[in-house]
Amino acid sequence: MLLTPGPTALPPSVRDVMSEELINPDVDPAFADRYDALLDKLGTVFGTDDEVVVMGGEGILGLEAAIASTVEPGDRVLCLSNGPYGDGFTDFVESYGAESTLVDADYDDSLPVVELERTLAAGEYDVATMVHCETPTGTLNDLSPALDLLDEHGVLTIVDAVSSLGGAPVPTDRIDICLGASQKCFSAPPGLAIASVSDVAWDRIEARDPASLYTNLLPWHEAEQPYPYTHLTTLVVALDEALDLLLDEGLDAVHDRHREVAAYCRERGAEMGLDPYPDPERSSPTVTAFSVPGRATALQERLREAHDVTLATGFGDLADDVLRVGHMGYNADPDRVERAMDALAAER
Ligand SMILES: Cc1ncc(COP(=O)(O)O)c(C=O)c1O
Repeated sequence: MLLTPGPTALPPSVRDVMSEELINPDVDPAFADRYDALLDKLGTVFGTDDEVVVMGGEGILGLEAAIASTVEPGDRVLCLSNGPYGDGFTDFVESYGAESTLVDADYDDSLPVVELERTLAAGEYDVATMVHCETPTGTLNDLSPALDLLDEHGVLTIVDAVSSLGGAPVPTDRIDICLGASQKCFSAPPGLAIASVSDVAWDRIEARDPASLYTNLLPWHEAEQPYPYTHLTTLVVALDEALDLLLDEGLDAVHDRHREVAAYCRERGAEMGLDPYPDPERSSPTVTAFSVPGRATALQERLREAHDVTLATGFGDLADDVLRVGHMGYNADPDRVERAMDALAAER
């Protein structure tokens, strides 16, 4: 039983649609219609009227495309961070020749808003990046204070909401480029990177001299069809089915389900004496990270071998110190999480 924080297990009907007859996305009008409907559904889940693009590639492609399309050498980008994905934006920024300023906090702390305010007062920035849910630490960031400040200073905002979209409310209407991925709370297979792009962001993208073609978002905006290259049709129909399941249940009900299952997971953890890694107030409804110093890999192996339950360990310095239960999308299910926590109780 796969209970990692993405890719998640797939609902049976999502698996089924992937065995449908293949459609040629360039010639079959049925695909174009389905694709248009998919974009509308994504607009509803993202909570925005901004244009949405669905690129063939995993989540990282969306992060890179957002930077590749909005910066050029000489631009100044402020990367706000309290986790590995927040830090990682600096690599994209620098690889496209722009200057990055990292404003960071410890991984178990909240976003450093006071330092952000000071940094914005002391210099000019073109673009700012941040992460809504830092999946590796199980932290859901409150973005509002940072978005307020960046808005006051007229800075374009890029937010990685890869592991929160579809599992928690995201303030997409306040974000210029908001990034998602198919394999997290949507519970579709990995392979599609999704971005909503504001008009202000398109203006900026149109004015850039792109250093890259394939990771540039502009062809998606300018193409006659809403996709400039042969689309990954099997993944698109899978995502479409996954979104139908989500919207049939209703976005609010889906968010409630994530909150309830996360609370259950943490209660069970507390009962067995496991400490949450981030402060419970900042714990994401989509993933729980427990602090298990020096034991994460051994526990992961034992759970897989003895119980057929696959959880995730941490990342980088936290690799062996954090064990993560992904309760997102199809896995935000009381029975599945109960089974995982029973297994953990038996092994911890
Ligand atoms: C917050 C966050 N951003 C980006 C990514 C990258 O997504 P992918 O692994 O699909 O490239 C991940 C993947 O785990 C993630 O958790």
